[in-house]
Amino acid sequence: MALLEVKDLNVYYPIRGGILGRTLGYVKAVDGVSFSIEKGETMGLVGESGSGKSTTGKAIIGLARITNGQILFDGVDITKYIGKNHSPYRKNVQIIFQDTYSSLNPKKRVLDIIAEPLRNFEKNTPVEERKRVDELLDIVGLSSDTAVKYPHEFSGGQRQRIGIARAMALKPRLIIADEPVSALDLSVQAQVLNFMKDIQQQFKLAYLFVSHDLGVVEHMCSNIAIMHKGRFVEAGRKENIYQNPKHIYTKRLIAAIPNIDPYKREETQIFRDKVADEYIQKYSEYYNAKDQVYDLKKISDSHYVALP
Ligand SMILES: Nc1ncnc2c1ncn2[C@@H]1O[C@H](COP(=O)(O)OP(=O)(O)OP(=O)(O)O)[C@@H](O)[C@H]1O
Ligand SMILES: [Mg+2]
Repeated sequence: MALLEVKDLNVYYPIRGGILGRTLGYVKAVDGVSFSIEKGETMGLVGESGSGKSTTGKAIIGLARITNGQILFDGVDITKYIGKNHSPYRKNVQIIFQDTYSSLNPKKRVLDIIAEPLRNFEKNTPVEERKRVDELLDIVGLSSDTAVKYPHEFSGGQRQRIGIARAMALKPRLIIADEPVSALDLSVQAQVLNFMKDIQQQFKLAYLFVSHDLGVVEHMCSNIAIMHKGRFVEAGRKENIYQNPKHIYTKRLIAAIPNIDPYKREETQIFRDKVADEYIQKYSEYYNAKDQVYDLKKISDSHYVALP
């Protein structure tokens, strides 16, 4: 049984206008998305800006209202409990964000930031709490004296570790990581990503890993879904997506991955131009008359493509 199962998720945001603020229409930020994540596995969600990646993650944790669809956790339909403060589900699923400046309260000490979820769910004495916070700091490789400092006293990579420590406090089984390393420079990115992999093994964590960077996703994920216009254009095992992309949009994303081999630069450019031409010429074969993405069709047990 899958740890998380998302069935036909729809999230529409109202577009309001006029002096009365009437609803004029809807942005279909997520428009019929289904997937599942197994225990201890990482699923990547990739796509351009505005494709609905963050909204998908937020809907699962109750930060965006679900218009339609179902969320199952451990096989139990928990759709109506999402966002409710004290449901057990809230402990099992946590989120970390790209922007640690706004996700970590600058006025609070690290101790209070990390202890906040513990205070919401458990009754610990100050001594017990401090012990738990020290354990969490140790897990993320920060020293115990970190606890009395404030977020601005840390580097970006260290702040993301603090965010991860807070997310780990309640021993979750799934972490939604929304562009967790996009704000960090490359060497620190690798550190944080490898660290996330280590704690994944240690604690059998599952991740929903949101990113626009296909290189990072390849390093982190076993399964990938490519999102465009609020829908999945392609989904499946990583190997299928990278080595055998079928949708024109996926092909274009893959072609855009920078090639670090200088001798292949010309080759890469020729390939990119070819894919760019194909994208223009064959666009109408991959999107319907209303410019929408088709439903996913199964082309193998571990590869799905949105085709007519
Ligand atoms: N709170 C909101 N109210 C209205 N529209 C929203 C809201 N949040 C997101 N949207 C719209 O929903 C769509 C999807 O946004 P979302 O943030 O999920 O994209 P994303 O794939 O995470 O993009 P990015 O890579 O830029 O983070 C966009 O068109 C966006 O403008
Ligand atoms: Mg986003």
